[in-house]
Amino acid sequence: MVSTFEATPNIALIKYWGKRDSKLVLPQNSSISFTLGNSVKTVTSVLFSDRLKEDVAWLNRKKTSGEELARMLLIADLVRQKASISSKVAIASENNFPTAAGIASSASGFAALACAASDAAGLGLNPTELSILARMASGSACRSVLGGFVEWKKGEEKDGGDSHAVQIAPASHWPELHDLIAVAESGRKKIGSSAGMDRTVKTSGLYAKRILDLPSRIAKMRQAIMLRDSQTVFALSMEDSMNMHATMLDTKPPILYLNERSMGIIEAIEELNASEGKLVCGYTFDAGPNAHLICEGKDVAKVKKSVAKLHGIEKFYDCIVGAGPIKLAAKESLLSEAGKPV
Ligand code: DP6
Repeated sequence: MVSTFEATPNIALIKYWGKRDSKLVLPQNSSISFTLGNSVKTVTSVLFSDRLKEDVAWLNRKKTSGEELARMLLIADLVRQKASISSKVAIASENNFPTAAGIASSASGFAALACAASDAAGLGLNPTELSILARMASGSACRSVLGGFVEWKKGEEKDGGDSHAVQIAPASHWPELHDLIAVAESGRKKIGSSAGMDRTVKTSGLYAKRILDLPSRIAKMRQAIMLRDSQTVFALSMEDSMNMHATMLDTKPPILYLNERSMGIIEAIEELNASEGKLVCGYTFDAGPNAHLICEGKDVAKVKKSVAKLHGIEKFYDCIVGAGPIKLAAKESLLSEAGKPV
């Protein structure tokens, strides 16, 4: 009853920011992302065993407690319920990139956890069921359960049965596309996404306009991805990211995730695009200051050069489009048979 999965974050080109149901994690709008290749990844092992005395979870080798533990146990509880088992659970999860700093560690973490927990319990869930399971812990995680280009359909049903990710195109559809992540700050963010987006929904006047505009932006993005139309994909990515961050600024009290380094990156990319006479890169920022620079492989060096010269850029991760979660061999397990981290 032990299983280990590797999953990767995803980068949203049309963002999810705001829930219509917080308990079931149902979004206000549909969103579109691509799942990243494995230069950034989470590995998670789950063990259900009657020999365990209590539920335990380790994140990056540190024992978790409080809210962090509760969120991981939420997935374990749903799986235990579905599988009709009452065994205690041990979970160990490790990221090879900064946690909770706008590189979607919750997306890869909960996608890996949903896959490993359901597999450890022998549930054999299909991708739609896995996406719904991951969504219950963190919205964006429902997109990381699938590879390639993904749309999270917001759904209409009250119980969230139709709010899950679907693949628009596999990773092989556009292998030239990269997400060059420029790390502008690797610490934890001050306000978490859940609290931040709830506050935006409640207090931002701009937000209603965003929700009104999104269906047409989503349709354009879907079509641009299908056509591998980089100019439109980059333009819409920047437009949607800036629009989401504008609603954050319009939140009372305001939420500011971008820092002066992020602003420097925006300027550098605008200059690069202007000097090339076309868009060679589109920037997009999640709930953090780190830039996701979307560009094609042939332009990665150029994009990197224009940003690397800025002060305070700590590191780059160059990610291609990834194929989604994979099951790892038993020897890769992060847990011993007794449920202790190895
Ligand atoms: C800005 O999925 O972290 O990255 O559902 O409350 O856990 P919760 O939020 P989360 O929000 C991600 C927001 C975003 C945009 C996106 O990935 O679509």
